[in-house]
Amino acid sequence: MRHEIVEKNVGLLAVLILVVISFGGLAEVVPLFFQKQTTQPVEGLEPLSALELEGRDIYRREGCVGCHSQMVRPFRAETERYGHYSVAGESVYDHNFLWGSKRTGPDLARVGGRYSDDWHRAHMYNPRDVVPESVMPAYPWLFENTLDGEATPKKMRALRALGVPYTDEQIENATGEVRGEQEITALIAYLQQLGTVLKGN
Ligand code: HEC
Repeated sequence: MRHEIVEKNVGLLAVLILVVISFGGLAEVVPLFFQKQTTQPVEGLEPLSALELEGRDIYRREGCVGCHSQMVRPFRAETERYGHYSVAGESVYDHNFLWGSKRTGPDLARVGGRYSDDWHRAHMYNPRDVVPESVMPAYPWLFENTLDGEATPKKMRALRALGVPYTDEQIENATGEVRGEQEITALIAYLQQLGTVLKGN
């Protein structure tokens, strides 16, 4: 009989359905906050340098994430191509995550060190110069724009508030490290460190 009350009252039914579903969600999500595996940095993980951090912002601004994932899944087809699968501890200093989900181009989670800086410069200036069949856009303006580094310390302070362990010294030196650099230099610095902490790839 009591069940009939619930079945005949759409509002009540909706509320109770939400309660039941949220238990399922909680059971999946809450433990992750307490698991070391998902909250602790992998050994050797350092926060991005000032230049790499600016490179990351360029990566975000240019929408690279729309065509490239940064997430090697634990399948043989992926690990043979890209290297060790991605683990959560590699991303604990990332705000926001740039894992992506679309792979028009290859995954970039382990691209660091795979090519020389010169290769990247040529490729970003015009991908067709090095990979004739490429559909990736060219980014020539990254070679003209330079960074002034004015906002870099503020970005680092904001990240520190979120738990990224930047030192006062790193924040003080940030503007000097970045000022006058071409955007392409920052972007490549960012790409070259991707996935390099975890060895075995
Ligand atoms: C329209 C989709 C698209 C966008 C946007 C895009 N790419 Fe690509 N990217 C590709 C494709 C396709 C390839 C494979 C062909 C090639 O190497 O050019 C590729 C290849 C690459 C590679 C070589 C990867 C490897 O392992 O060989 C790098 C590095 C790269 N892209 C970086 C970037 C960066 C950085 C950006 C943003 C500034 C970007 N891409 C934006 C489609 C895209």
